[in-house]
Amino acid sequence: MSEKSIDTIQMRRTFLKGAAAIGAGSLLSAEQLYAQSAAKNLPPAVPEWMQRVGRGVVTEPYGKPSIHEQNVVRRTVPWLTASPISSISFSPLHALKGIITPSSLHFERYHSGIPDINPDQHRLMVHGLCENPLIFSMDDLMRFPSVSEIRFIECPANGGMEWRGAQMEALQFTHGMLSCSEWTGVRLSTLLAEVGVKPKAKWLLAEGADGAAMARSIPIEKALDDVIVAYAQNGEMIRPEQGYPVRLVIPGWEGNTSIKWLRRLELGDQPWHMREETSKYTDLMPDGSSRRFTWVQEANSVVTSLCPEKPLKQKGYHELEGIAWSGRGKIKQVDITLDGGVTWRAAKLKGQVLDKALSRFSFDWNWDGSPALIQSRAIDETGYVQPTLGQLRKVRGVNSVYHKNSIHTWQLLASGEVRNVQID
Ligand code: CO
Repeated sequence: MSEKSIDTIQMRRTFLKGAAAIGAGSLLSAEQLYAQSAAKNLPPAVPEWMQRVGRGVVTEPYGKPSIHEQNVVRRTVPWLTASPISSISFSPLHALKGIITPSSLHFERYHSGIPDINPDQHRLMVHGLCENPLIFSMDDLMRFPSVSEIRFIECPANGGMEWRGAQMEALQFTHGMLSCSEWTGVRLSTLLAEVGVKPKAKWLLAEGADGAAMARSIPIEKALDDVIVAYAQNGEMIRPEQGYPVRLVIPGWEGNTSIKWLRRLELGDQPWHMREETSKYTDLMPDGSSRRFTWVQEANSVVTSLCPEKPLKQKGYHELEGIAWSGRGKIKQVDITLDGGVTWRAAKLKGQVLDKALSRFSFDWNWDGSPALIQSRAIDETGYVQPTLGQLRKVRGVNSVYHKNSIHTWQLLASGEVRNVQID
């Protein structure tokens, strides 16, 4: 044993004697007890976990987060939907780092619950207006050359609870129908080349193998562009919640089009007008008409380092951080305001800035303890600028559920608490 560690242990003994003396003959408050138990693990003491061996390999054959992180979980809003089999859960964006969402924390959306699919008995049928209709097993799909791409998936209803002014006091609920993964699979265009698309085919119906047979119509141009028939997510087979054993990933488009548990692709000459593209996933405009086939998730952003779940504990330096994304391509710029949109300054984009993926921005800031109205504004590579709530409401009215990508405001109070407020 080195002299230094002997010293440390002696110091610890002295400290413990002192602690025992405090305890003798007097009742300690819960706070004092907690301070005492914490102190025995703080410098200069040797913490408890250094005084014994730890757990061996494969104690957890499939690892999981520390028990001290058990609050970092998906959450749902009970009043939002009638039943958990047709509902949504939200990613804990306030607790996530970088641009990849851990698969266990990817937001969920089901229309009839999660099917338990045996991959050996699962098939993908491609038929309709093609030369050579085919049925693929999972083994067949995995023989094709694969691609791995980092793409966000966002439910178009993200933020939709706030159209009419409802205030969700948590970033998890204002923006958490959003996640980003590395998806691996076969390019859909590769499978379509295999079946030989007939010139008359202008649309593709994608259908899931869930109890709802969730289905959406996709125009052939997008189908032949960047769509992935994905079987893996973040390095392992896709989770059941995310479409095991195979799903579509339609980059940049409303999450609902990325059909999970994919079982059928039909080529046709017109769209099918399924339930989820007529009565749902359309946008009711102020004049009473309804927009359909609004697929793209427009540029959006939000500050995540400070939010209702993460109040500021002290004045001084803070890195204001957040995420930005666009269904049209890469994020080009993010601006920050501390005064509710009067003055804007450019944030830095950090790490990888990828096509149709989450990008992370950063802004150096010294908080002097004053209240502030903090917003971020994303601009994508097409030049599209994230609108204010007022600009969006002027065009869209207040009847919509989907595609609310307006600038979001956090009100920072002098106490360091953060509230969700709306500024036009
Ligand atoms: Co839409």
